[in-house]
Order: sequence, then structure tokens, then C-alpha cells
Amino acid sequence: MQKLSGQLALVTGASAGIGESTARRLSAEGARLVLAARRVDRLRALAKELPGAEALELDVRDAASVGSALESFEFDLVVANAGLARGTDPIHSVEESAWNDMIDTNVKGVLAVIRATLPGMIARGRGDMVLLGSVAGRQVYPGGNVYCATKHAVRALYEALRLDAAGTGIRFTTVDPGMVETEFSRVRLGDQERADAVYRGFEALTPDDVADAIAFAVTRPPHVNIGEIVIWPSDQASTTIVKRSE
Ligand SMILES: NC(=O)c1ccc[n+]([C@@H]2O[C@H](COP(=O)([O-])OP(=O)(O)OC[C@H]3O[C@@H](n4cnc5c(N)ncnc54)[C@H](OP(=O)(O)O)[C@@H]3O)[C@@H](O)[C@H]2O)c1
Repeated sequence: MQKLSGQLALVTGASAGIGESTARRLSAEGARLVLAARRVDRLRALAKELPGAEALELDVRDAASVGSALESFEFDLVVANAGLARGTDPIHSVEESAWNDMIDTNVKGVLAVIRATLPGMIARGRGDMVLLGSVAGRQVYPGGNVYCATKHAVRALYEALRLDAAGTGIRFTTVDPGMVETEFSRVRLGDQERADAVYRGFEALTPDDVADAIAFAVTRPPHVNIGEIVIWPSDQASTTIVKRSE
């Protein structure tokens, strides 16, 4: 039997990268997926490939619409993955629009998803909630300022969830990857050539590597809660040290 058969799973940011891979993997484990993101055309194409999946156009920055879009679902598993970075400017020159985008998506967006889904899971007495943190939530690097602050906040939210929802039957996991080759750097840097250079000369993680870790965590027996998963590419020693071949 598939390990997640009969479970309903929400993946935010399922239109690309880690979210898309996680949706595919959870579906392969038997879950039915609600695929959420802004680019609904991509979600619809993915939903066609995954049995029972549905596409949900959602901007996690809009807390009211997150609440109303998710209220009718009874999720067994939530992966709060939608997130982004904007630029690598030093802290004294980061544009205010970039702060807002990162804080609204990575912190307030995660909170909106928690508020829309956790009360129901608590009422049903079971479920898994996985947050996509980052090694940027553990180490700050030059130019990472606000993005790192948002991922430190995600880590604090993970810890808060464990404390505030202790004994409710819900398992919480934070998954904190190093460099994963996705659309992340293109979104951050605004051009493909610069994004390609980020991953040149070493083997970055793939989104499937991260999906694999998430699938492991949520398929443990009910009394086992894999809390924190930190995954590095073998050639990445820290957020500032990557051993490249060229
Ligand atoms: N790539 C890395 O090196 C890395 C490392 C550590 C952690 N992470 C974290 O992993 C998560 C996924 O990143 P990724 O690498 O897979 O990046 P990606 O390929 O750029 O995917 C990001 C996903 O987030 C969605 N998203 C962004 N803003 C959104 C919004 N306002 N509302 C709904 N969905 C939104 C995007 O969908 P739409 O644009 O269609 O809305 C997309 O599906 C993020 O939280 C990121 O911080 C990434």
C-alpha cells in the first residue's frame, strides 16, 4: 500500500522547483494534492498528471483570500513552501519593495497558511505541517540580509508551532536546504545568465532531493516527528563556502 493513500495534501508554491517536485513525490506516495501558487496555468498542467489533484490560484501574500480559498479543505498534510528572495543588495540599500515582497511572502504568507489550515488539523487531532526554511535561517551571508531574516523567522515559527501546538497530535517539520537548482536564483537576480552562474562548477541539490527528505519525514510512524532537516550539497560547506571545480 502507498504510504500516504487517502491523505489530502496542500503544497504552496507547487508551480515550480521544490514545491512541484514535492507535489509529484507526495502524489506518488498516494496523497491527493491541492496545488497552490499564482501561476495557475502551470498548476493546471501539473494537476492533469497527478491523480485527483486540483489547481488553486493563490497569492499567499493576501491573507484574507488564503483563508477563504482553504477553508473548505480538510488537510492531512500541509507543505508551506511558497517563498522567494529579491536581490543581493547590502542592507542599507535594499529597496523597500523588495523587503515587502520577501516579508509578505516568506513570513506573513506562511502565517496565513498556518492560520487557514492548522485549526482544522488540531480539531481533527492529526496532521503534518512542513515549513520550507533554509540554511539562510541558520547562517546570515553578505547580501542575504532580509531574506535571511525571513528564514530565521520561519525557524522561529517552526519552534513556536511545536510549543503552542504541543499535544495536539500534529507533527511539525522544518526543512532547511542549502543551494537547490530551481527558478529561485532567476527570481532573485532577475536574469538567467546570472542565475546559471550561481550553480556553476559544483553539483547543487535538485528539488527532488528536497522532496525526498519531505517524503521521508511525513511517512514515519505516528509517534515519530522528524523535526529539523538540514540538507547541504556535498560541495557546500556553509552559506558562504562552496567548493567549485572552476
Ligand atoms: N532554491 C534554493 O536554493 C532554496 C534553498 C533553501 C530554501 N529554499 C526555499 O524553498 C522554497 C521554494 O523555492 P524554490 O527554490 O523551489 O523556488 P522557485 O523555483 O522559484 O519556486 C518558488 C515557488 O513559490 C511560489 N510563490 C512565490 N511567491 C508566491 C506567492 N506570493 N503566492 C503563492 N506562491 C508563491 C512560486 O509560484 P508562483 O510564482 O506561480 O506564485 C513557485 O511555485 C522557498 O521558500 C525558498 O525560500 C530554496
